[in-house]
Amino acid sequence: MDIFETAKIGQMEVKNRVVMPPMDMYSAGDDGKITPFHMTHYTTRVVGGVGLVITEVVAVSPEGRISANDLGLWEDDQKEGMKNLVEACHALDGKIAMQIGHAGRKCEVEGLPHMAPSAIDFNPEEYPVPMEMTKEDIDKAIQDFQAAAKCAAEVGFDGLEIHAAHGYLIHEFLSPLSNERTDEYGGSLENRVRFLAEVIAAIKEVWPAERPLWMRVSATDHAPGGIDCDEMVKIVNLVKDDIDLVHVSSGGLITVPIHLFAGYQVQYAEQIRRECDIPVIAVGLIEDFTLAQNIIEDERADFVALGRELLRNPYWFLHALYRRKMKEDIPEAYHRAFK
Ligand SMILES: Cc1cc2nc3c(=O)[nH]c(=O)nc-3n(C[C@H](O)[C@H](O)[C@H](O)COP(=O)(O)O)c2cc1C
Repeated sequence: MDIFETAKIGQMEVKNRVVMPPMDMYSAGDDGKITPFHMTHYTTRVVGGVGLVITEVVAVSPEGRISANDLGLWEDDQKEGMKNLVEACHALDGKIAMQIGHAGRKCEVEGLPHMAPSAIDFNPEEYPVPMEMTKEDIDKAIQDFQAAAKCAAEVGFDGLEIHAAHGYLIHEFLSPLSNERTDEYGGSLENRVRFLAEVIAAIKEVWPAERPLWMRVSATDHAPGGIDCDEMVKIVNLVKDDIDLVHVSSGGLITVPIHLFAGYQVQYAEQIRRECDIPVIAVGLIEDFTLAQNIIEDERADFVALGRELLRNPYWFLHALYRRKMKEDIPEAYHRAFK
């Protein structure tokens, strides 16, 4: 495999294997709507040539926001800005997917309920003890995911990523460190996966079958008693028939030191790819071109995502094209800058 080749996620074709991962810009107004900043931010990365842009997390409900400045898609009048964003990316020959999520106990918006599978706080200094969700709360959250997915489909997003990572609501159900429920949503692995499985099933009722649907996971909680990558393999195996890909991150459920190094999470992507037989995106301190290319060439992952590097250097991929002597793929308007 080669980083520059066209590839597919489900039936969606992308022009190369480099992805911009979701990064919350905390730059929306408290109405959750797209601003001029978002238009420029995302279209700049499209001009920079990455195969796929994934939006920052878009909240499925007001209480599902991480901050008061998150994007949201719980009301009809939030759709217009999203549609403009999709159309702008398409006009530039780019593909754009949306990440949807619910912050769960990590909601930082004042005055809203903090929802979680169990009444266990993330961090007692900074976060209140959340409410244990009732069955009605769970049903509403699933409906909110479904409604947001329907809107995402209507405005034309090319793909949809379910945020099941980083200690937010879905991850909180998955991990025994945050889920101590004794009903059908807690306890056994199958029970802890139930909320995720129900979210996926609800989304599939409204998300077009020909457009890809996938999830982002934290492959490990980096903590004893939490999820490790072997358990994540079992989780993915339970839902993989209904998704097209897994975007493999780690951590975020509890505060623990993580040993960071270039490509530190690729090992998890590689294990899930191998043991679940599903395409994966690898992410995490992948900044160097040779490292990115080797991950793909060695078939450790199907796609590589570059987060902070693309914030610093939106034209990373144009430099890579130039280095590979593929100048014809650089926008013609920029040719004089790549002699
Ligand atoms: C400013 C910022 C905001 C982020 N917001 C999100 C988010 O909305 N959803 C998500 O799944 N990950 C989010 N992440 C994590 C990134 O997608 C990525 O996994 C992480 O930055 C590691 O990749 P990197 O080393 O290439 O930056 C965020 C990271 C940063 C730096």
